[in-house]
Amino acid sequence: MKTIKQLLTMKEQKEKISMITAYDYPSAKQAEAAGIDTILVGDSLGMVVLGYDSTVEVTMEDMTHHAKAARRGAPDSYVIVDVPFGAVGIDHTTDMKNAIQLYKDTKANAVKIEGMHTTLIQGCTQIGVPVVSHLGLTPQSVGITGYKLQASSKREAEQLIEDAKAVEQAGAVMIVLEAIPSDLAEVITEQLTIPVIGIGAGKGTDGQVLVYHDLLNYGSEHIAKFVKQYGDFSNGIDALKAYHEEVKSGAFPSEAHTYKKKVMGETE
Ligand code: KIV
Repeated sequence: MKTIKQLLTMKEQKEKISMITAYDYPSAKQAEAAGIDTILVGDSLGMVVLGYDSTVEVTMEDMTHHAKAARRGAPDSYVIVDVPFGAVGIDHTTDMKNAIQLYKDTKANAVKIEGMHTTLIQGCTQIGVPVVSHLGLTPQSVGITGYKLQASSKREAEQLIEDAKAVEQAGAVMIVLEAIPSDLAEVITEQLTIPVIGIGAGKGTDGQVLVYHDLLNYGSEHIAKFVKQYGDFSNGIDALKAYHEEVKSGAFPSEAHTYKKKVMGETE
């Protein structure tokens, strides 16, 4: 099982860290088999798996259900689970209860919390729940920020540097930085001792994360500028069409896909 200590060593030795989202048993199994360093059960599952418009509708039950399946598919990976919108930001006791519950029920290695929640990060760290912080574009706040580049002025960039230092100080074991200028991401990466994983943050971070469905062109509708597609699962439609046609024509199932033992002529 990959540990946070190993990920820290990778940062120190300037070995890049790969992270991919996975939301179920087969995708997590594939990620582990591919040797990907860390798996994020992201609340992006709301859009790419459940067909919601944003991550806002995703529930604790959704995250738990998917993270448990991903954990089973990748027993040896460092798995991170997203705390969904509405599960934190209520009051300290409720926030802690939800973070602990997700960690405990899913057997993930860490929970990821979007936005500035230093007191919560501190509380979780104190009782042994590792927290990954997510700053920059935080999709749960898209109603306020929109999907666009964040920290694009000097003042906002300086604020983000302060925020990143504050979450590290609070005990975060890693940070995800999304959709920010690459020079800023590089400065933050240099100034922090914990691993910084970027998505739309250029190549200067300690590692990269992409959404499984975007990377594989698997049903994703909006592909951001920072996504590179390494595969094309959209050809699954051709396979489904071929199946449909072969059922219609009777070509499927053939003898090769049929149990041919004769039982109907036999007497009991
Ligand atoms: O939910 C998610 O997939 C994420 C990544 C985009 C970092 O938070």
